[in-house]
Amino acid sequence: MTIKKRKAYELEIIDLAFGGRGLAKPDGLPVFIDRCIPGDVVFAKITKKKKSWAEGKLIKIIKESPLRNQGKCQYCNFCGGCKWQQIGYDLQLEYKKRHVTESMDHIGGLKDVLVKDVIPSDWIYEYRNKMEFSCSSKRWLLPWELENEEIKKDFGIGLHVPGTFDKVIDIKQCEIMPDLGNKILDDVRNFIKESDLPAYHLRTHEGFWRFLMLRHSVAFDTWMVNIVTKTKRIDVVQNLAALLAQKHPQIKSILNNITDSKSGVSTDKEEITLHGKDHIKEKLGEFVFKISANSFFQTNTRSCEKLYSKVSEYAALSGDEVVMDLYSGTGTIPIWLSGQAKMVVGIEIVKSAVIDAKQNAGLNGIENCDFLEGDIKDVLPRLKQKPDVMIIDPPRVGMHKDVVRQVLSIGPEKIVYVSCNPATLARDLEMLCPKYEIKVIQPIDMFPHTYHIESVALLLKK
Ligand SMILES: C[S@@+](CC[C@H](N)C(=O)[O-])C[C@H]1O[C@@H](n2cnc3c(N)ncnc32)[C@H](O)[C@@H]1O
Repeated sequence: MTIKKRKAYELEIIDLAFGGRGLAKPDGLPVFIDRCIPGDVVFAKITKKKKSWAEGKLIKIIKESPLRNQGKCQYCNFCGGCKWQQIGYDLQLEYKKRHVTESMDHIGGLKDVLVKDVIPSDWIYEYRNKMEFSCSSKRWLLPWELENEEIKKDFGIGLHVPGTFDKVIDIKQCEIMPDLGNKILDDVRNFIKESDLPAYHLRTHEGFWRFLMLRHSVAFDTWMVNIVTKTKRIDVVQNLAALLAQKHPQIKSILNNITDSKSGVSTDKEEITLHGKDHIKEKLGEFVFKISANSFFQTNTRSCEKLYSKVSEYAALSGDEVVMDLYSGTGTIPIWLSGQAKMVVGIEIVKSAVIDAKQNAGLNGIENCDFLEGDIKDVLPRLKQKPDVMIIDPPRVGMHKDVVRQVLSIGPEKIVYVSCNPATLARDLEMLCPKYEIKVIQPIDMFPHTYHIESVALLLKK
């Protein structure tokens, strides 16, 4: 069969490919189709055709795979959040492990790396401690909403449908955040609907309401609500804050971040505290952390403790070492390791995260951690002291090439590399491996129902 663009075909899904998409191979040509799982027979339209591969859009499932589960979430076939709810959790873990192993092999050219079985997440629903919902003046209608004329299309608050950046599904129930979050989301939705102010329009960049960011503290069962708007209207947002605070006493922080930046990122331009504190507190192990609205914090608190325990185990510190933690965020790893090392130095680019890190060390009575602000590639060359152990936990894009070179030239005896992206982990390990031996990689699931997987790699100097 010759596969042609814009034509539709009946295809059998034989595997899951990189990025979590279903893979069919009509006449040996790999065709990638979203939202399919192995064993499905589907009708799909080819949307992209290259010499050696193609992409298709699912039109209809003709025969369901026996591996298919009923997803708990009513939006899971449409929303960009968790696309793997139809796959049983054990099978998700198998695919995630394979994803790490294959990335090492195919991207890094690293054969025979020991990749352990994935450490599962204890909670597979209500596990996320942070959700960000977008407001949009264009609501994406679900198939069963299309015929309902009472539904207005001019407002939605929720998550994006992949491929339609300006439209959102009006989410009533998100299964991966704790349930009170859904009640807060609903109160905010009703308030916005009754307000005279329009939702932000992602094409024209006009409108007022932009995002709702919710954070939950597992240890204290408290919430932060961050209302992100384009302009300042304290009179309006203060009323919303009063309503939320009165209805939900677990909310300990309500903020208004104001930003007219065109990008979809809700970074703080101006931040106003409307209720309670400008942060909430969370506990990891015995340590307490202060988290501001815009600082990075691992999104699955329970799995984060498992992740940091693995970092401790692989670092195997005796108490005499100088440890350097690259990409240190709010200082969580340095503080976690503080009792096991002589000194831990964290380097982080986001100013508010560095401020949080310093305060977090103080909050926990820790005196052997130091935090430096700046881009790692500029800060590293200025440092005089050589660390014995390096912890490296970069964002999804991985390490900058210059940073890899600097790490190779510093040459710590041991590196513990924490990664949320197997592809960039493989690329970076390949660059490090002339000088380092990869002893083991331990995947840890922080993101059930998505194809994402966290990994911790232990590297020893050759
Ligand atoms: C994956 S997070 C890890 C944070 C921390 N280790 C944790 O577990 O919470 C990556 C961090 O790297 C920071 N970052 C990104 N690029 C950076 C750079 N070029 N220099 C320094 N820090 C950077 C981000 O702000 C973020 O806090």
